[in-house]
Amino acid sequence: MIRTIVQIGNPALRQVAKPVDVNQIQSDEIQSLIDDLIETMRHANGAGLAATQIAVPLRICIIEVSKNPRYPYKPEIPLTVLINPKVTFLTEERINVYEGCLSVPNMRGKVDRCPEILIEGCDREGQALSFISKGISAGTFQHELDHLDGLIYTDRMSDASSLTTLDEFADNYEEAFKRQVISIVEAYGS
Ligand code: NI
Repeated sequence: MIRTIVQIGNPALRQVAKPVDVNQIQSDEIQSLIDDLIETMRHANGAGLAATQIAVPLRICIIEVSKNPRYPYKPEIPLTVLINPKVTFLTEERINVYEGCLSVPNMRGKVDRCPEILIEGCDREGQALSFISKGISAGTFQHELDHLDGLIYTDRMSDASSLTTLDEFADNYEEAFKRQVISIVEAYGS
């Protein structure tokens, strides 16, 4: 079922989501919530979606990047369901990259992200997950995990002057950003 994605200003986006009881992951309630997140994200052409964005305060988020028209230059990420995820930064380095969010319609802004992270959590079968993500993809994971702590990318912007509408982004910044993405992919492999 396609759910309503709440927009910036909605208090649901500011809630710190609660951990999912691992014994409940296989329940119909959690499994259909995950199915709804996937359907809603794909319908909106998102690169990810957190449960808080459909006003469900549970620590579940999903990420998928495959030929995304909203982000045509992003490296692909296969569908990943993360339950109770934790992130560990593996480098002091930061990349400063444009992000957008389905809960902040029509906008992009630049955010500092760690380009090499360890993610641990559970998958939708309740199995432990542990993997390293790098480059632009690492930023995508950090964006979704932030939602579970009630944070929106605009909170992470050190310089609000980079905030731009999509049309202005396309006209003024997209070409340079594509070149930056290519150099990040060369440096980090994703
Ligand atoms: Ni978002």
